[in-house]
Amino acid sequence: MNDKKAPGIYWGEYESVSNVDKAHFEAFKRQSPADIEKACRDENGRLRHIINAEHFDLEFLTTICETAKAARRIDDGNREFLGKLLRGRGSINLFKQPSSRTWASFSRAAGILGMQTVDIKDVSTSSEVKGESEKDSLRTLSSYGDALVCRHPSDEYDLFGLWVQKSSGREIPFINAGSGTKRHPTQGILDYYTINESFKGNIDGKVVAFVGDCLRGRTVHSLAKILALHKNITAYFVAPEGLQIDKETEEYIDTRGVMVHKETNSLRRVMPLADVVYMTRVQSEHGGSGDYNENFKFTMDSLDSMREGAILMHPGPKRDEIAPEIDYLKGDQRVMYWRQQRNGMWTRVALLAHVLGVDDKIREAYKEYAKIGLDRK
Ligand code: MLT
Repeated sequence: MNDKKAPGIYWGEYESVSNVDKAHFEAFKRQSPADIEKACRDENGRLRHIINAEHFDLEFLTTICETAKAARRIDDGNREFLGKLLRGRGSINLFKQPSSRTWASFSRAAGILGMQTVDIKDVSTSSEVKGESEKDSLRTLSSYGDALVCRHPSDEYDLFGLWVQKSSGREIPFINAGSGTKRHPTQGILDYYTINESFKGNIDGKVVAFVGDCLRGRTVHSLAKILALHKNITAYFVAPEGLQIDKETEEYIDTRGVMVHKETNSLRRVMPLADVVYMTRVQSEHGGSGDYNENFKFTMDSLDSMREGAILMHPGPKRDEIAPEIDYLKGDQRVMYWRQQRNGMWTRVALLAHVLGVDDKIREAYKEYAKIGLDRK
């Protein structure tokens, strides 16, 4: 495949400056993965920077799911409560790659919690065009807010964002909203929430088919690593040879007990085996053609061969990998990808509340609601 090199991090125009910055970043990266993870946690061991799905454990995920559920139910009856929790605090959303869902859902999530947002998507208006390094511009943006939510094409941006926070005197939570081809931890959380809700918390033993671009679809890597926290998971990677799952993720999940299968010919054989069919588009922005092989498409007939209780997911954006008629099957419990998108907003409410330390207030308030019967089933 004709892969394009992902744009790297911009270090500014002057070598005398960039050499110093790069040397500091290189030294930071030389830390062990355990030390990097520690740097993401506060003094009580709570995750404060969300850079990599490998840092999640079931306790964290369960707490996020409970908070998200509580927030969406409270919102039904008492929107004002949520809106007061972080009133006046600021979320800076810096997106250096196209985004609709992740950006809009983070922006709304911040608004639901009463935060103000600064949304930067058009980087041609940034001081980087005047030669400011990404380090300086990220540090500057950090001074104006209480949380940073960033998306970037570089595979190193998760560590870069953490490093910028760690080297500043005013550290605020850094949330990776998608970096490079391997990390999309917050999509992993919302996908996990969707699966958890669909199977009422019974995820052990489930069979998940990841379909499409298993190599460069960062959502696949994050979700596969999260699911590896559960027992007896089977993962089918359904993709042509050139888009198959990479060694690093395969070894990571295999070591944690996931049964890994690769299917390079067609989705048909795997359909009846899967509890979750997770479709993805071909990530042609990284090179090669975006055309989707017919054998891997989810057709109307595929619906009929789904296992009882199985669900169809897609992180979006979708192109032609799912038959368009499926969008019109209102209320079909198998078709989960629209609900999955809405779940993104509520899990991001939970995540912002978590990193800013007000998530327990949401869960507590929901318990009170439940006592007086104001919660909805
Ligand atoms: C991503 O940013 O990775 C998206 O959510 C999924 C995609 O672009 O296909």
